[in-house]
Amino acid sequence: MPAPPEATTIKDINGSPEQEAYMKCLIEQLTITPDKLSRICEHFKGEMTKGLNKEGHTLAMIPSYVEGRLTGEEKGNFLALDLGGTNLRVVLVTLEGQGKFKTVSTKARISDTLKTGPMRDLCDYIADCIDTFLTEQGLEDQETELPLGYTFSFPVLQSKINRGTLLTWTKGFSCTGAVGKDPVILLQDALLKKHLPVKVTALVNDTVGTLLSNAYNKPDTIAGLILGTGSNGAYIEQMDKIGKWQGGKTAFPEMIINMEFGAFDNERVVLPLTRYDNKLDRESINPHSQIFEKLISGMYLGEIVRNVLTDMMDRELLFQRSEGFDAKTASKEISVQWGFETSYMSNIEDDSTSNLSRTKEVLDTNLSIQNASETDCRIIKRVCELVGTRAARLAGCAIAAIVQHCGVNEKGADIGIDGSLYEFYPSFEKRTYQAISELMPEYPDITKVVRLGLARDGSGVGAALCACVAARMEDIKSKA
Ligand code: GLC
Repeated sequence: MPAPPEATTIKDINGSPEQEAYMKCLIEQLTITPDKLSRICEHFKGEMTKGLNKEGHTLAMIPSYVEGRLTGEEKGNFLALDLGGTNLRVVLVTLEGQGKFKTVSTKARISDTLKTGPMRDLCDYIADCIDTFLTEQGLEDQETELPLGYTFSFPVLQSKINRGTLLTWTKGFSCTGAVGKDPVILLQDALLKKHLPVKVTALVNDTVGTLLSNAYNKPDTIAGLILGTGSNGAYIEQMDKIGKWQGGKTAFPEMIINMEFGAFDNERVVLPLTRYDNKLDRESINPHSQIFEKLISGMYLGEIVRNVLTDMMDRELLFQRSEGFDAKTASKEISVQWGFETSYMSNIEDDSTSNLSRTKEVLDTNLSIQNASETDCRIIKRVCELVGTRAARLAGCAIAAIVQHCGVNEKGADIGIDGSLYEFYPSFEKRTYQAISELMPEYPDITKVVRLGLARDGSGVGAALCACVAARMEDIKSKA
């Protein structure tokens, strides 16, 4: 029998009656009970089936054109490019077979100007980064073109393993001249202009890459997830379940599907959205879209917490201790959109000191809040716990839905996960497992059946593996 959801007692806040009342109400709004979780999971599975059968559904369920499974014996040198999170990465991957590989990589930050300016500028910048990297690696004068796997982590409707159309931007990107276009062609043009010996042979979503990199040495991998700046998942589907497939006969009976589950329940049928979530959504650059992602991901969780805290400040329920202190003017930082980062939540949740001195430090160092009382700190820690727990439980719900959709066999299922929330956020994995076990109570030890694990460099190694699969598929076609 799974343990009950984490206790959400308000006893230890030890606040004023008004603070206690506010927290009680907040707990009700942010707690996803086992019942609610199960309703969300059922709805999620229904949406998966809809998306598999028809274009245009909220869960896009995009066929990736990556067919069949890996053997673990894939070998060769590949370039990989990773665009879609905070950084741009160029990676040289050597696949050595038997699930082994080596990588050398370089990283560059993408400025907000590049994220929101013309796509051509972004592609030129990427080409420059690749150029510098090739020179550093002594590869600039290659005779034969290097195959490049392009991890482009946005919703792309694929039409081939290296072709597709960008449907919409997510995660704070909004470059002009890209939606409706093929990101591969745009990049290849920029590479050609610089005469770089590189050919984009695969276009990969980061979730697909994560699945592949996990599968390289764990053959029972059925899914890959990103729980980081954004959230999404990919899994291996039977061709005969992809009712909308129009790509003709495939060489293998299975294909990886990029679910784009960040958009789940954009129509707001089942997710228990609060006014704090609505405020975030309304003020984001993509209102009414990526609703599930906005409840789960690193890009947004801190902002939800900030919305709660500023509301409490406006009601004079926080930072009221010292006389003459006006919290609203004392900390400009907390009044600014995105002013409370998800990494602060991680640090606060990690604080096990009895007087919450680390929480005080986070508030002081990052937000110039010096007068937080211990009660304030307890409240803030509890708010972080509530928002962080809700995120992990929803992520667990998506995982359970995928596993139940695919069916569990005696070998169980490996799920590769990448992303800062999963890797660094305290208790995220534990809370995710808790939700999965509530949804799959028939398994006494869920960790043996649904094995979550950190996938190694999904967007680098995964993209290289995808480029390798692309070459294999070309080969099969040319012999057919
Ligand atoms: C966003 C993108 C999706 C990506 C995810 C994780 O949801 O739309 O393609 O996989 O972020 O990076």
